[in-house]
Amino acid sequence: MSTVEPFDAVDVIRAKRDGRPVDEPALRWMIDAYTREYVTDAQMSAFAMAVLLNGMSRDEIRVMTDAMIASGERMSFTALSKTTVDKHSTGGVGDKITLPLAPLVAAFGVAVPQLSGRGLGHTGGTLDKLESIPGWRAALSNDEMFAQLDDVGAVICAAGSGLAPADKRLYALRDVTGTVEAIPLIASSIMSKKIAEGTASLVLDVKFGSGAFMQDIDKARELARTMVALGNDSGVATTALLTDMNSPLGRAIGNANEVRESVEVLAGGGPADVVELTVALAREMLTLAGQPDADVEAALKDGRAMDVWRRMILAQDGDPDAALPVARETHTVLAPSSGVVTRLEALPFGIAAWRLGAGRARPQDAVVHAAGIDLHAQLGERIEAGHPLFTLSAEDAARFPRALEALEGAWEIGEAAPAASARVAERITA
Ligand code: URA
Repeated sequence: MSTVEPFDAVDVIRAKRDGRPVDEPALRWMIDAYTREYVTDAQMSAFAMAVLLNGMSRDEIRVMTDAMIASGERMSFTALSKTTVDKHSTGGVGDKITLPLAPLVAAFGVAVPQLSGRGLGHTGGTLDKLESIPGWRAALSNDEMFAQLDDVGAVICAAGSGLAPADKRLYALRDVTGTVEAIPLIASSIMSKKIAEGTASLVLDVKFGSGAFMQDIDKARELARTMVALGNDSGVATTALLTDMNSPLGRAIGNANEVRESVEVLAGGGPADVVELTVALAREMLTLAGQPDADVEAALKDGRAMDVWRRMILAQDGDPDAALPVARETHTVLAPSSGVVTRLEALPFGIAAWRLGAGRARPQDAVVHAAGIDLHAQLGERIEAGHPLFTLSAEDAARFPRALEALEGAWEIGEAAPAASARVAERITA
């Protein structure tokens, strides 16, 4: 017996195309029917483009998010003896913050379930970075994840395919139809997965600048506000920080070298901007978890965060003492003159690291864990002529010319230091 569909995709597309509201039952049906493969990719592409051009009301975004959550399973951490708090970053170049942050927050007795992904394009994936550690395993069963949260407190593992499957299809489609950059689609995509994951609270790191999805701070603010409202309306206590992604975060871009830098931060050192952002996000997470006065800097300095890191890596079969992979070939660029680094653009450095093998061009590609870039000077730092500015690492020297091509015009040494600016620009709570 054939079922009669209650709506028509073309009517839904036309409504959005013409700027009319799409009512709740029709929008829920559109997402459900797409997940069932009744609504075709061509129809969903047209709908996504209409959303990109005409936007969505807050109510439509809430319904869209809810419909994507309903397309899959919902997890719950309520059986744990600890409260849960998660963090999501919209992604950037050199963004390894999850690595020191999850153990740091867990050092205060809070559970941090970080269901993460792999990188595609110039932004790195947290799982790719951790897989540089010999033996480390990304795939955990739900039982293993719960046991680790109870015991160690921090888990960084692969998100199961059961969370928001509608988003999985829609995100892949958006990637190839020029519809990634729509705020309602980004907000519903991220928040459907985070709400379905079942965390009690959530801190969003919404990036702006040349290495971010949203180049413009006003757009980033709108995205942050939309996601904060979606989280809080769904019972997930949510706040956001707007953070600067105009220049690479820290000195390491890649996989193994980002793990190395994260371990430096956990040992009480590391670049000031990575420490600043790690501490700011940890404070935000612990405030939501009911510990606004937690001394997070002390936990980095006295080894408590490092202890959790080691237990977290060991619990997933990794060896925290093993040597990380080192690339066969390196190429160092020297400063042509003495001065201050006045420009260091995040996006070209992300693209260059990707071309060196640190990222993948297709989902099925393998990443080269040892490939990447080490900056010897960050934005605003002084450098002398002839001293190393940055070093490229790859398994094959044939990769250097295209990486260097990406970096043409991406950096500058001048006289006047750029005005010092903090990574954290704003805090969004509503
Ligand atoms: N990350 C997601 O998960 N979805 C988006 O749409 C953008 C970034």
